[in-house]
Amino acid sequence: MADHFLFSVLLLVVFVGLISACTNPQVTSKSFTTQDATIVTHIGFISEFEVKCSSGDISSLYAELPDGSIIPAAVVGTNKYQVSWTEDTKTAAKGTHKIRIFEEDGYAALRKVLRGNEATSSVSEFFNISVVHPGAYSGPWLRSEFIAVIASLFVSYFAVTKKGKIVA
Ligand SMILES: *[C@@H]1O[C@H](CO)[C@@H](O)[C@H](O)[C@H]1NC(C)=O
Repeated sequence: MADHFLFSVLLLVVFVGLISACTNPQVTSKSFTTQDATIVTHIGFISEFEVKCSSGDISSLYAELPDGSIIPAAVVGTNKYQVSWTEDTKTAAKGTHKIRIFEEDGYAALRKVLRGNEATSSVSEFFNISVVHPGAYSGPWLRSEFIAVIASLFVSYFAVTKKGKIVA
């Protein structure tokens, strides 16, 4: 029994030693929200982020959502992760939501804290990401590049109609 335990500890030490933690993470993130006009009770939040480490690797990442729940981040590409959730349109706070991201060890610490009914704020995050909620009743939020395209279409449309008038 004791040998078994010792062996497990040894394995763990070797395992941890092989994986060097990510240092100095550089994070780029983008977020968007979805709101179907026909389903107005919930708003979907999606955040995609890319993490580059100066050295070392990332194990799994976990996100602490605004409601306090902790979910694993989905891996969507090399160093790319995605977190998504929905909130009630009535209670979803407008503005910037700060989402805290944790690594494997932070996640373990979080679970310990939650078991003891303590505040999760005592566990420091690996990094933060921001998710912007433009407001519940402003309709679907479009990505800025999309808005730019629409705006330029309008500009050319008006240019064309104006030109037509001048010619006529
Ligand atoms: C996350 O944001 C909080 C405040 O918004 C800040 O105190 C904390 O240092 C940030 N964490 C990291 C890792 O940058």
